[in-house]
Amino acid sequence: MIILVTGGAGFIGSNFLSIFVPKNPEHLFINIDKLTYAANPLNLEKIEGLANYRFEKVSITNFEVVDRLLNKYNPDLIVHFAAESHVDRSIIGPSDFIQTNIIGTFHLLEACRKHWKEAENKKNKLFHHVSTDEVYGSLGLTGYFTEDSKYAPNSPYSASKAASDHLVRAYNQTYNLPVKITNSSNNYGPYQFPEKLIPLMIINCLEGKKLPVYGEGLNVRDWIYVEDHIRAIWTVIEKGRIGETYNIGGNNEWKNIDVVKKVCELMAEETGCDYSEYERLIFHGEDRPGHDFRYALDSSKIRQELGWKPRETFLSGLRKTIRWYLSNRDWVNSVKTGTYRKWIEQMYGNVKP
Ligand code: NAD
Ligand code: DAU
Repeated sequence: MIILVTGGAGFIGSNFLSIFVPKNPEHLFINIDKLTYAANPLNLEKIEGLANYRFEKVSITNFEVVDRLLNKYNPDLIVHFAAESHVDRSIIGPSDFIQTNIIGTFHLLEACRKHWKEAENKKNKLFHHVSTDEVYGSLGLTGYFTEDSKYAPNSPYSASKAASDHLVRAYNQTYNLPVKITNSSNNYGPYQFPEKLIPLMIINCLEGKKLPVYGEGLNVRDWIYVEDHIRAIWTVIEKGRIGETYNIGGNNEWKNIDVVKKVCELMAEETGCDYSEYERLIFHGEDRPGHDFRYALDSSKIRQELGWKPRETFLSGLRKTIRWYLSNRDWVNSVKTGTYRKWIEQMYGNVKP
C-alpha cells in the first residue's frame, strides 16, 4: 500500500508514523505536513532515512499542491491528522482553524473525488478522517456520547472539526467516496506540544512554574494514551466498515484538578522531590470561555465490532509519559526555545500558503 499521512509531524501523527513505518516495510508512507509551531522534525527522528518513508513540506490549504501529490503518489490510503488542534488558540484566533480544518479537509476530499472518480479507482482506496469527541459538545454529570449523539460543538476548534466531519460524511453519501471517521477523546503521551494540559503541567513542575488550572478544575475529560488511539485507528482502517464512524475513548474520566494532582504525585515519585513542592504550584486562574464541562465516550462499537480495547490505564500511561518527558530534555528544550524552527527554515524554506 501507498499511505499518505497528513500532519504526521505533530503529536498523534508522529506517534502513528514512528510505530507503523518500521513495522510495515512493505508499505510506503508519505508524510505531508506544513510544519506549523506544533510540528517538530525531532518527533520523526526514529524513521527519518527509512526506505519506506518520504516527507513533503506542504499545506493542505493549497489545492494545487494536494492535487499534484495525489497525482504523484496515487495513494491507496489517506490518514488525515493535519489540523489546528488547540482549543485556547482557536478562541484567540479562529482563522487558521477554518482554513486548515475545514478548507484543508475539503481540498483533500476534492482531490480524492477527482483521482478516485472511476469505480475501479475507488476499489481498495480509503480516506480515514481523524476527529475528536469535542464535536458532540458537552455532557452533564452523567451519560456518554455515542456515534449517534447530536453534533453540538462549542469552540471554534470543535466547530471546525465538526464541519470537516460533515464534509467527509457528505462525500461518502454523495460521491460514494470510501471514508471512515474516528472520534477520539483526550490523548496524552510522548511528543505532545506543551500547550496541552498534561505536558504543560509536567514541564512547569520541572521548572518550578505555576500550574494553571482553569476555574475550579472540576471539568472532566476522558483520557486515552496516544498509542492506544493509534492502534484503534489502525484497527478501524483494517477492519472497520466504509462510511462508518467509530468512537475511541479511554474510559478514564478524570477531573482536571485530579489530573494535575496525579501529575504532581507521580513527578514526586519519579524525581524524588517532595509532593508538596509541586502541589504548592497549583494556581486556580480564569476559566476558558465556553469551557465544555465533561466529555465521556461510549466506545462499545469499536470494542464489540472490531475487538479493540485500550492497553494502558490512566496511571500506567501517565507514568510512561512523565518518564518520557524526564528523559527527553533535549526535545523539551528545543520546543521551549524554538530552536527547531530555525532548522525547519534552513531545511525546507517557507511553505506556500
Ligand atoms: P498537533 O497540533 O500536535 O499536530 C497537527 C499537525 O498538523 C502538525 O504537524 C501541523 O504542522 C500539521 N498541520 C497543521 N496545519 C496544516 C496544514 N495546513 N497543512 C499541513 N499540515 C498542517 O495535533 P494532534 O494533537 O496530533 O492532533 C492530530 C489530529 O487528531 C487532529 O485532527 C485533531 O483534531 C485530532 N485529535 C486530537 C486529539 C488530542 O487529544 N490531541 C484528540 C482527538 C482528536
Ligand atoms: O477531547 C479531545 C480534544 O482534547 C482534542 O480534540 C483537542 O485537539 C485537544 O487539544 C484536547 O482538547 P482539550 O481542550 O480538552 O485539551 P487541553 O489539554 O487544552 O485541556 C484539557 C482540560 O484542562 C480542559 O478542560 C482545559 C483544562 N486546562 C488546560 C490547560 C492547557 C487547564 O485547566 N489548564 C491549562 O493550562
